[in-house]
Amino acid sequence: MSSQSEKDFLRVEPTGSPAYPVYVENDFARLQSGGDFDLEGVSQFFLISQTGLEESVVVPFLEALGERIPGGLPKERVVLIGQGEASKHISRLAPVYNRLIELDVDRKSCLIALGGGVVGDFTGFVAATLLRGVSFVQIPTTLLAAVDSSVGGKTAVNVDRGKNMVGAFYQPRFVYFNTRFLRTLPEREWICGLAEMAKHACLDGEGRLLADLENNADLLRNPDAPELRQAVLDSAAFKARVVSEDEREGGLRAILNLGHTTAHSLESLTDYKRFSHGEAVARGLVTALLLSRRVLGLAEEKMERYFKLFERLGLPGDTAGFAPAEVLDHMRFDKKSVRGIPRFVLLEDAGRPRYGIEVREEDFLAAYTEQAERFGSGARSAPKIQPL
Ligand SMILES: NC(=O)c1ccc[n+]([C@@H]2O[C@H](COP(=O)([O-])OP(=O)(O)OC[C@H]3O[C@@H](n4cnc5c(N)ncnc54)[C@H](O)[C@@H]3O)[C@@H](O)[C@H]2O)c1
Repeated sequence: MSSQSEKDFLRVEPTGSPAYPVYVENDFARLQSGGDFDLEGVSQFFLISQTGLEESVVVPFLEALGERIPGGLPKERVVLIGQGEASKHISRLAPVYNRLIELDVDRKSCLIALGGGVVGDFTGFVAATLLRGVSFVQIPTTLLAAVDSSVGGKTAVNVDRGKNMVGAFYQPRFVYFNTRFLRTLPEREWICGLAEMAKHACLDGEGRLLADLENNADLLRNPDAPELRQAVLDSAAFKARVVSEDEREGGLRAILNLGHTTAHSLESLTDYKRFSHGEAVARGLVTALLLSRRVLGLAEEKMERYFKLFERLGLPGDTAGFAPAEVLDHMRFDKKSVRGIPRFVLLEDAGRPRYGIEVREEDFLAAYTEQAERFGSGARSAPKIQPL
């Protein structure tokens, strides 16, 4: 076992990198007591967050922290990056490196990444590369970042030709998440996080994540519910377990791509402008389960059980207005396709994923048609998100 969750705290033990804790709480008690955060040897802190999060996240966090940061955190050491994927572009690195150097950053400095996955990925990459590596801590503030991007040590920036194409594996000193941050989280961002949690529940061989999400589905949008705190911790622990066994994506980690083959196709068909990643993944999970039944014989009642959970979590399952052949055509160009044949992560049984499954054209077309019949074909237009 390479990660363990105990009450409000879990330990990630990646092979080849130092172990680190993930704390999840729903008040600021641990933060205010000073807790047992490992800050030894840190000369000074820099906080990296995002414009638009000042009121909802930065100020409450600094207030909760009070004087507890050794040496304090003066305003000039707070650096805000912009909104959206565009602010994770490689061209945005230089101003941040320059600013930190102007502020006398040194090898013993520690960067605090306070925000969603964009801030976490970007700050992690800055930490991995500045002065050949300074330490950093992840303080995720979206549900997706808490259960997914803050755990696993992947850091990245975008280039013109693609998302996350430049990056490093670099682990934080610790991860700290407070469900209170979610009090201001917009609806679409809840969907992103819940889709990832649902995905983990599909993959979990023990079946506990699924049972717990089913039992508590109605409480999972309540930032103050202890059930949400526990569900975040368990979901993050699941991801930690998978990545601990396969820190650098040799194999097992590929199961985390459940739902992603269709999702990437939908995102690419819409130029990354229409769906958030989670909205695409939610639809992709439905396709993957329909294919799992068709191709690997996943039992009907197990598939239905997942669908019921998705519905209770409010996840979209429609086919987004695209014909099956359009989605399939786009999939052939996906980097995971081999000889134009798309590959999927599918379940042969509940919690028993297999990856790299080649899916025949007729199976995909039939599954996507069935998805449209069951969950609706959706509309081709929807609120836009900020493009890359
Ligand atoms: N490193 C990994 O393993 C990994 C895994 C999954 C995703 N990612 C990356 O994560 C990014 C997506 O992360 P995300 O979904 O958190 O998106 P995000 O960071 O863009 O955050 C979504 C929106 O929510 C806002 N926000 C954040 N916290 C808030 C709060 N508490 N209250 C109100 N608004 C808040 C943000 O300002 C932003 O507008 C992508 O860049 C993706 O590539 C990385």
